[in-house]
Amino acid sequence: MLGNFTYSNPTKLYFGKDALEGLNAELPGYGKNVLLVYGGGSIKKNGIYKKIIEILQANGKNIFEDAGVMPNPTSDKLEEGIQRARSAKADLILAVGGGSVCDYAKAVSVSVNCNDDAWEKYYIRFDDVTCDIIPVGCVLTMVGTGSEMNGGSVITNRRQKLKIGHVFGDNVFPKFSILNPEFTFTVPKYQMVAGIYDIMSHILEQYFSGTDDNTSDYIMEGLLRSLIHSADIAVKNPKDYEARSNIMWIATWALNTLVAKGKTTDWMVHMLGQAIGAHTDATHGMTLSAVSMPYYRHILPYGEAKFARYAVNVWGVNPEDKSQRQVAEEGLSEMEQWMQSIGLVMNITRLGATEEMLDGIVKSTRITNGGYKVLDEKDIKKVIKASY
Ligand code: NZQ
Ligand code: ZN
Repeated sequence: MLGNFTYSNPTKLYFGKDALEGLNAELPGYGKNVLLVYGGGSIKKNGIYKKIIEILQANGKNIFEDAGVMPNPTSDKLEEGIQRARSAKADLILAVGGGSVCDYAKAVSVSVNCNDDAWEKYYIRFDDVTCDIIPVGCVLTMVGTGSEMNGGSVITNRRQKLKIGHVFGDNVFPKFSILNPEFTFTVPKYQMVAGIYDIMSHILEQYFSGTDDNTSDYIMEGLLRSLIHSADIAVKNPKDYEARSNIMWIATWALNTLVAKGKTTDWMVHMLGQAIGAHTDATHGMTLSAVSMPYYRHILPYGEAKFARYAVNVWGVNPEDKSQRQVAEEGLSEMEQWMQSIGLVMNITRLGATEEMLDGIVKSTRITNGGYKVLDEKDIKKVIKASY
């Protein structure tokens, strides 16, 4: 393990079919005013909304609502949420939904007691939080982002064509999260598969960095193998509790900061994906799948040994009588076939990207420096063109 680090994760998790009972345990610890934040209405159709309202009422809470948080929440919606939380004098923000709703709740929580423009402060200047935070709790209904146990909060500014994530400190992590795998059974297949790839991408963004012997890499190989196994089952039978519960748990561990420890981490696939999202508003996981193969093939020569290890330990490639390069490439081919087999989108054209957008996408891509190659604009153009 290289470097120095601190590790703590303050989010309390309630997991399993009875997880919602955790809400009864948590609510007495907060004041009366609860701002209930949710998306476009799936929770009303599947009955989760009703269950939560009953629990809030039984605990004597004043319920204020902020509905209509869209996938890839916008800076305009964030402004609306800040006003709602202020007028509700919210003591707790309860986010019920997927990553978009959880991310948005965190962005509201750090902005309510602040006078600055939230987009400028957190997403352009990357300022630290200097005002009082309203605690956030999360009831997860869609799996993938890991937002239930991290400080990530991604907001899109449609006018500026920018989609940017701020990773807040552990004081902004949800205070508690409720993870009932059955709540995810109604997620449409397209979203489920996108979420599965989001998880895979989170792991790979951290795995493909560094050359030292690092326990985190061994943990990630285990998580990846479990993910591939359970994803194959869930794609055939989305109501398989065992598979869906494993996927839910892997998602949390993929991005709750543990496996990043001692790693430089890359995140370039996410930077490319976010730029595509800013221009197309496409589903997050699919923006990642669409660019991954061109990106990994582009950087493979700079991290060949790690790609070969990945091929053997995750995809079961037999290395006998093969060069390191051959093993590494075979691993990526296995990955590509698997991605196609579960129904992932493999190019940005299918996400609505047009030729006129390509230069803009390149410009909107932020460059990171923790992976095997620091890209320049020419590299980004090449990867984006190969994804088109
Ligand atoms: O809005 P509703 O009607 O609820 O429908 C949602 C939405 O349309 C639907 N859905 C969620 N749960 C459902 C359901 N439909 C039926 N039954 C259910 N149980 O699913 C759609 C997508 O939801 P969304 O929250 O947008 O998906 P996801 O969890 O993938 O979140 C994506 C957002 O998270 C950000 C992404 O950039 C994107 O903005 N990310 C956050 C990260 C973090 N906090 O660390 C890291 C990630 O890399 C990611 O960037
Ligand atoms: Zn992601």
